[in-house]
Parts: sequence; structure tokens; C-alpha cells
Amino acid sequence: MDFFELAKSRYSVRSFKDMPIEEEKLQMILEAGRFAPTAKNCQPQRIYVAKSEESRKKLASVCSCTFDAPLILVVCYDRERECKRSLTPGTQTGEMDTSIVCTHMMLQAWDLGIGSCWVGYYNDDEVAAVLGLPEHIRVAALLPMGYPADDAKPLNCHFQSRELSDMVEEI
Ligand SMILES: Cc1cc2nc3c(=O)[nH]c(=O)nc-3n(C[C@H](O)[C@H](O)[C@H](O)COP(=O)(O)O)c2cc1C
Repeated sequence: MDFFELAKSRYSVRSFKDMPIEEEKLQMILEAGRFAPTAKNCQPQRIYVAKSEESRKKLASVCSCTFDAPLILVVCYDRERECKRSLTPGTQTGEMDTSIVCTHMMLQAWDLGIGSCWVGYYNDDEVAAVLGLPEHIRVAALLPMGYPADDAKPLNCHFQSRELSDMVEEI
């Protein structure tokens, strides 16, 4: 698939086959996240791979949007590694960096026929507590992923994109 087709055809998958993701495909997805650009190349991402039933149950206990996926990536960043923005003191780039990491991984997954959904509907502290994360590790997103169920389809909102002219302006 060329990149435009890949980006255009991706949608949030919320219903999965009960089928594991092959290890080599998972590695490709994680590698795509590894190559994502990060501010000053600080690479603050830290990714927890929840494959076991126990880990997935823990996450499902604090997040209603794990969709029974066979695998959940908990995409975090390390506050001790993220870039501090010197010209705008008090701001950091961990969330931006991990957003790009997530996007790379979602698109790589989609290219392999694996669906995912970006999930932000959880309380950060609750996720950190069930996983026992240290204070300096912050959760940026959950990515439940797997092969789309036969009846998986995009929600209506997927088709409701604002016009380019409404979001882009020449200056
Ligand atoms: C930051 C962010 C948070 C999101 N959180 C959730 C969520 O908690 N639950 C969910 O079902 N979808 C979530 N989504 C998916 C969006 O609802 C979805 O991307 C959007 O409606 C467009 O649909 P599409 O991805 O199918 O094109 C989130 C997406 C983003 C980027």
C-alpha cells in the first residue's frame, strides 16, 4: 500500500479476532516506534507490551476501552529523558514524542493488516497503579491492537472529516 492509501484507509478498530499477533510482526511494529523522531533525539518512550491475560485484565479493570484486544501497548514516556523546551521554560516534549511513536506504530500495524485504536479514556494514576509504574514514567496512550474481527468497521465519526479549507490557511 502506498503511504497515502495506508493513512487514508486506517480507522480505529474496536473489535478483534481472538488471534495473537505474530512475534515478528510485533517486532516490526515496535521498531517503527523506535525510529520515530523525538525532540533532540531524547527518545523518552517506554512501551509496555501487555500480552498475558493477567496484564490485559489489569488494564481492562481501569479502562473500559481495551476492547478484548489480544495485545495492548501501553505507550509511556520517561520524564527523566524527555526534552525540556529551553525557550518555553516549564514545557517538555514527552507527550509530543510519544504521539509520533504511537502514530508510527499504528500505521505500521495497519500495513501488516493489524488494527488498533488510540485510547485516552483512563485515569493516568489508575493505569500507573495497576502496572506498578515508577513516578517518572508517564502514560501517554493505550493501543489495543489485533486482527480486526470480521464485522469490524469504522464508527460514523471516522467519515466526518472537516474540509481542508476549514483547517488550513495560507499566511
Ligand atoms: C488522543 C486520542 C484519544 C482517543 N481516545 C479514544 C478512546 O479513549 N476510546 C476510543 O474508542 N477511541 C479513542 N480515540 C479514537 C478516536 O475516537 C478516533 O481516532 C476518531 O474518532 C477518528 O476515527 P478513526 O480513527 O476511525 O478515523 C482517540 C484518539 C486520539 C487521537
